[in-house]
Amino acid sequence: MEISKCKSYKDLSNLVADVVEHILALPEPKLILPTGSTPIGLYKELVNRQLDWSTTTTFNLDEYIINPNHPQSYHSFMKKHLFDRINIYPNNCNFPNRNTQAYEDIISEVDLCILGIGSNGHIAFNEPGSSFDSVTRVVDLTEETIKDNSRFFPTIEDVPTQAITMGLKSIMSSKKIIIMANGKHKKNILEQAMYGDITEDIPASILQTHTNMEAFYCD
Ligand code: PGA
Repeated sequence: MEISKCKSYKDLSNLVADVVEHILALPEPKLILPTGSTPIGLYKELVNRQLDWSTTTTFNLDEYIINPNHPQSYHSFMKKHLFDRINIYPNNCNFPNRNTQAYEDIISEVDLCILGIGSNGHIAFNEPGSSFDSVTRVVDLTEETIKDNSRFFPTIEDVPTQAITMGLKSIMSSKKIIIMANGKHKKNILEQAMYGDITEDIPASILQTHTNMEAFYCD
């Protein structure tokens, strides 16, 4: 397992966009997509490339328990950064909801899953201690994640305390996985996840057991 060190955030975004572009050439591509600050450059690059998304189906990794129309919902984030700017059919853009089993049932044969990594090693909202066998479910957010995400809300009290997330098993069922990390503050946790013990204390460490996984990092 090697972490590809990118020259810059733009370089990281371009390299991952190259992989997505390749997948979009498949007849009916299926992608699992992240939110957060890390993929914003990737989405910008994908919009610029004016690719054909008309046969693509997407699944978002997670969503807060929040009104989907709330400006900080992940529905709103995806519309703003990607979906409203490409020719994807809104009906092909899926988000987890309280009907977690139904979501789990439709996540199959996914060609590519793109992930960020949280400062505590979480992927999606699979916080430390999440079972490697976990599937889509409602979760309580940790204090650390609420604090990290408070930068997007007027006050920390406005940050939702619960979310619905794909599980680690759901993520691992993807044919290919890419994990992206931007910034020195993510270096340690990415290295621990990629090179350290495979432990539920660092949910991203399960990725070491995937046979088609790439990690991209820039300072
Ligand atoms: P970030 O979040 O991209 O905003 O750093 C990543 C994550 O928490 O999964």
